[in-house]
Amino acid sequence: MSSYIIEAEGLVKRYGQVRALAGLDLQVAEGSILAVLGPNGAGKTTAVRILTTRTVPDSGHARVAGFDVRTQAGQVRRRIGVTAQDVTLDGLLTGRQNLVMAGQLSGLSARAAARRATELLERFDLSEAGGRTAKGYSGGMRRRLDLATSLVAAPPVLFLDEPTTGLDPTSRAGVWDIIRDLSSGGVTVLLTTQYLDEADQLAERVVVVDHGRSIAEGTPAELKRSVGGARLELTLSAGAHLDVVAAALAPYVEGHPLASEGGRRVTAPVSNRGGLATLVVRALDAAGVSVDDVEVRQPSLDDVFFVLTGRTAQSDEGGDGPEGADNDEAAAHLGPENKAVSNLQEVPA
Ligand SMILES: Nc1ncnc2c1ncn2[C@@H]1O[C@H](COP(=O)(O)OP(=O)(O)OP(=O)(O)O)[C@@H](O)[C@H]1O
Ligand SMILES: [Mg+2]
Repeated sequence: MSSYIIEAEGLVKRYGQVRALAGLDLQVAEGSILAVLGPNGAGKTTAVRILTTRTVPDSGHARVAGFDVRTQAGQVRRRIGVTAQDVTLDGLLTGRQNLVMAGQLSGLSARAAARRATELLERFDLSEAGGRTAKGYSGGMRRRLDLATSLVAAPPVLFLDEPTTGLDPTSRAGVWDIIRDLSSGGVTVLLTTQYLDEADQLAERVVVVDHGRSIAEGTPAELKRSVGGARLELTLSAGAHLDVVAAALAPYVEGHPLASEGGRRVTAPVSNRGGLATLVVRALDAAGVSVDDVEVRQPSLDDVFFVLTGRTAQSDEGGDGPEGADNDEAAAHLGPENKAVSNLQEVPA
């Protein structure tokens, strides 16, 4: 027996000419959180649909909680909760009624379903809103209710398809807390996301998916290291002398700074430490360089994507060369050596 509670091998799924999955492999250890990270159209929802028995693969195999998703779909369904990408609540029912209905659909008695609904409304901070119809809920409340609905049967395995897309930062943080809480209670979670920061916040392991297959896998820290960690991004006032800038930055940056826009924009890889932006501004100020803007930016999915594929996550599918490679010429390299050109120079902020 395998030690993975979710396990997929070589999943292929075609929709007409479109190959949504092109041989996807996944493994999730029991009790852990796996993030499936990828841009629009990567195949994330298709993978979730196969693993949750909503659709069958053209080829490949998957097992969830020890059961085959194709031949033992009923067994799988009894052990999973699913929150789909599009919220699937009944807007005309109240929050409570949605939960009670979900409970009864999953086989609870009316009394048990009512008890469970109260419990979940409380846990998801919806007790007060529970009597109102769901169509009047905010996006964050609807997400929380949707999540609660997938948990009525207390499933050991939970699939969340882009649980926080479209939410404001506060609601996102609320959903993250809930997911962490579930995980510490022993629930295995597979979530999909387009955001590295979400994967970073939640997941022990991340699989980066592109064009229906895994193109990288690791811990969030490993993925970030693969794209060179944090970056310093400076906007200088016009007229700064690049040699002076390079010398002032030298103690704080890890590689060669790159300048663009006639020397007004400067970026460089940095190690992530507290107060770095302040130190950099002070050093530049002491060197007589004035700074319009400074930011220490963590790697984004764009960065990971660009490094892995040579194109941005937003660019059209199928492109295989770096977008805007002609900007290469425009980037002036600061410092003594003109090598070590980082791909990241083309990644949009
Ligand atoms: N039912 C369908 N019929 C036709 N094409 C489909 C269907 N479902 C998915 N596809 C196509 O398969 C590819 C993968 O789609 P999928 O929904 O799995 O991507 P995704 O990673 O979930 O994207 P998003 O981030 O936008 O949700 C896309 O090109 C999509 O258009
Ligand atoms: Mg999707």
